[in-house]
Amino acid sequence: RILILDFGSQTTQLIARRVRESRVYCEIHPYHMPIESIRRFAPRGIILSGSPASVHDPGAPLVDPAVLSLGCPVLGICYGMQLMAHLLGGEVERAEQREYGPALITVEGPSSLFRDIEREDVRVWMSHGDRILRMPTGFKVLASSANSPVAAMGDPQRGFFAVQFHPEVVHTPCGRTLLDNFLFHICRCRPTWTMKSFVEASIEAIREKVGDGHVICALSGGVDSSVVAVLLHKAVGPRLHCIFVDNGLLRKGESEAVQRVFRDHFDMNLTVVDAARQFLGRLKGVTDPEEKRKIIGNLFIEIFEREAQRLPNVRYLAQGTLYPDVIESVSFKGPSATIKTHHNVGGLPERMDLELIEPLRELFKDEVRLVGRELGLPERIIMRHPFPGPGLAIRIIGEVTPEKLRVLREADALVMEEMEAAGWYDKVWQAFAVLLPVRSVGVMGDERTYDEVVALRVVESVDAMTADWARIPYELMAGISNRIINEVPGVNRVVYDISSKPPSTIEWE
Ligand code: XMP
Repeated sequence: RILILDFGSQTTQLIARRVRESRVYCEIHPYHMPIESIRRFAPRGIILSGSPASVHDPGAPLVDPAVLSLGCPVLGICYGMQLMAHLLGGEVERAEQREYGPALITVEGPSSLFRDIEREDVRVWMSHGDRILRMPTGFKVLASSANSPVAAMGDPQRGFFAVQFHPEVVHTPCGRTLLDNFLFHICRCRPTWTMKSFVEASIEAIREKVGDGHVICALSGGVDSSVVAVLLHKAVGPRLHCIFVDNGLLRKGESEAVQRVFRDHFDMNLTVVDAARQFLGRLKGVTDPEEKRKIIGNLFIEIFEREAQRLPNVRYLAQGTLYPDVIESVSFKGPSATIKTHHNVGGLPERMDLELIEPLRELFKDEVRLVGRELGLPERIIMRHPFPGPGLAIRIIGEVTPEKLRVLREADALVMEEMEAAGWYDKVWQAFAVLLPVRSVGVMGDERTYDEVVALRVVESVDAMTADWARIPYELMAGISNRIINEVPGVNRVVYDISSKPPSTIEWE
């Protein structure tokens, strides 16, 4: 396995994903990981990430120089390269201006790092301020560009390699080959990390941990909790108890669909709690987005706790925490402001004195989907768009009422249908309808109408941190608008949301 030391680059996670895509297991740890822990990790190779810092900054993030004498190969990327030069006795200079964007490099002579890569005019993506003035002894230039005489360097004897550009981004087309060369020819890793082996190993590990104990799991119908449930069910069978809380804020047919899949198809113990009236009761008269979120989150926990206490001998709580949530990323921005209180069950285990089981802790979202497929989950669940915990309540701007829920639920179902029929559902991150607290005048037949407005929100994103509105075809917009206005009584206008995140967010509340 490979160890990635993070110095705070935006693209550290991408490095990990590329390595995993090549079927080599890797983990990201902060640059100050103690050397004993690194020894225990026993990496086959180490990758030093980029960073917004400069090695000349006071307090620049440094690694224990012992990292460079563990005897395993090291690849430095961007800042990682400068750091390597700095620690090994080379010299790094501040460039007059940052080099940012595409560049062409020339590969100098054969090397294991550039195996099977063109020699001339190789397109790469640069993003750096500093550059190498003098390489440490033992290194030679492996590639150069007009702006960076040392665009890549290596000391094959010691297994040290470094690149000024970013091989992990798609704008460096040869990046995959280069990283594969590092993994397979320099570190001599083998591509054995597959979802099948993951599933087998985690079932084994769960059985070992749980013994003959009982496990509960909050099922939402989303990808993560569904995969957790099926994995746990494979491991402990009837000793898994799933609880699905129908908060009345779900999409059309969702509760039935969950029961069909998990109770009928997978034959799991599933408790469905119909709590719609309770949720709606507490939401009555509430219009503030944060307040809505808190009410829903707290009530969910109350209900879940109550249901769980009815089950005998439960000692474990299974949860779909993913790798991006557990990476202790190095951030140079300081603590961030709370934009939205996310609905989660984070506080449950302590409150209820349960031990946590988080079988997806090591996985990225796309890997979770592959595991889902491996476990035989229906494609509809695997490819499902994210749906927020507070559900339709945060897509009804203002007070949530049964009437508004009915309108939004119908409109939302039509959006889904049309997106799927047009083959666009799988191409975007999310598509949904939002019910606005606005009425507008329309004309239907010969009658004047004064009805509600639905906003259509369709976004592209890779991780929900940033997003852009999707350029779906006009025809598709027209189809969705027509159907909503004609088929959902009470709506006479549909608008399309053309804001990106930031400065907007994906959801409206
Ligand atoms: P925002 O609106 O913050 O949304 O740009 C980012 C992503 O998170 C989803 N979202 C939530 N997911 N509980 C969740 O599990 C929540 O409370 C929640 N709020 C927003 C949102 O749908 C988008 O994918």
